[in-house]
Amino acid sequence: MKKMKFAPTMVAAAVATVLVAGCNAQATKDQAGMSAGDKAMAAAGAGTSGPPPLAPLGPPPIPPDNQQTPEKIELGKLLFFDPRIGGDASTGCSTCHEPEQGWAWAEDFSRGYPGTVHWRNSQTVVNSAYFPRQFWAGSASSNESQARSAAKGGVAGNGEDDIMEARLALIPEYRARFKKVFGTDYPHIFDVWRAISSFERTLVQRDTPLDKYLLGDKTALSEEQLRGKALFEGKAGCIQCHNGAITSDQNFYNIGVPPNKRWEEDGLAQITFRFEQYAKGQTEEGYRTAKSDWGFYYRSKNPGDKGKFRTAPLRYLAYTAPYMHNGVFYTLEEVVDFYDRGGFDEEGRTTLFPETKSPLIKPLGLTDDEKADLIAFLESMSGEEILMEKPEQPPYAPLFTKAELKAAQEAK
Ligand code: HEC
Ligand code: HEC
Repeated sequence: MKKMKFAPTMVAAAVATVLVAGCNAQATKDQAGMSAGDKAMAAAGAGTSGPPPLAPLGPPPIPPDNQQTPEKIELGKLLFFDPRIGGDASTGCSTCHEPEQGWAWAEDFSRGYPGTVHWRNSQTVVNSAYFPRQFWAGSASSNESQARSAAKGGVAGNGEDDIMEARLALIPEYRARFKKVFGTDYPHIFDVWRAISSFERTLVQRDTPLDKYLLGDKTALSEEQLRGKALFEGKAGCIQCHNGAITSDQNFYNIGVPPNKRWEEDGLAQITFRFEQYAKGQTEEGYRTAKSDWGFYYRSKNPGDKGKFRTAPLRYLAYTAPYMHNGVFYTLEEVVDFYDRGGFDEEGRTTLFPETKSPLIKPLGLTDDEKADLIAFLESMSGEEILMEKPEQPPYAPLFTKAELKAAQEAK
């Protein structure tokens, strides 16, 4: 029912923008919901080139100015698990990226800084080393810049650089480790992000049934998974956006994810939702009326980008439910049903921005068996769970002994 209701709106929006074209070709394209990715796919349909095939995952790229060393990785691991990297020393990276919850947080919205709930789903840090665009709307371009935003963001770590540096300065083990790794007398916050990133670059899962299959082991996928792969690459059309080794074209699309009802029903969620509208530079009109996450729009400020998000990578999915930027789907079954309906949930809800919804998302007509095959194939991208014991936090100690302080006093 709802599907039919939106179809004419989309056509009308496209026609309307074509009529006002001329002054702004960019706006025309985007108003019609065609992102760079949509356009590339349209071209592919016209026979120029297809989407890149799925490929085995190679080693992650290492930035030349932040080479991996065992000491740096070990330091980064300590820092990742240390809640003193954050505001009130309770909320560090691992607080919202729990190894046992897929290195994410198993609720629709992530837990937030004390007193808040986050407004987006916590993403896994596994394989983040590969993504040139990080966060749901791609607002960070490296692990280094991502870590900084995470530790300082108001509803995430909410940390102050000075305080975090001061804490590290009063922990002898950190002073010694930073000195060894970075050569500084005192830990610099900038190096904290570098060390954490080095650790994250070790959290990769390359050894999945899909990788084994793509590397030549034809027994690595079951019959069911092979049928799922054919659907993924054919009838279900997933490959159009989820492609290449990282299973994401890193483009932005509105696939029709409906708003999370908690924004209307849960006071704390509502507060963060409003706060984020303001923090992300929403227009006044948008601030007053927004009822869902505008996604990539906050960054581009282009109305054609409302409700668009980075194509989510599909590796390690088996451990990272719930799904989507706002965690509205708790199982892969729900996700596949959503795509099968052409981007509608079981109540017929879809995006509040139908005008930007990707034309690539349409009813698929999958049978129950085909849905099961597709899910089996999605599971072949996950591999073994990566689990790790949390390291002990090195203790504080005063910078100077009483005797040293007394001597300094007397020398004055
Ligand atoms: C209060 C919870 C919270 C804390 C603390 C937190 N994160 Fe996150 N993390 C999230 C959420 C939620 C997202 C998605 C946010 C968004 O897209 O706006 C995210 C996204 C990420 C991503 C992006 C992954 C991808 O696929 O693009 C990485 C990497 C990451 N966090 C690492 C870290 C690191 C490193 C720290 C510590 C410095 C940290 N996080 C602290 C909740 C948290
Ligand atoms: C038009 C591009 C496009 C197509 C086609 C597409 N996806 Fe997606 N997919 C996305 C985007 C964008 C997201 C993130 C959306 C959001 O959070 O609002 C996503 C998210 C997902 C997620 C959630 C991942 C997570 O970590 O939460 C799964 C699972 C998924 N897609 C599977 C599929 C399957 C299966 C198909 C084929 C039936 C498919 N996708 C087709 C673009 C696409």
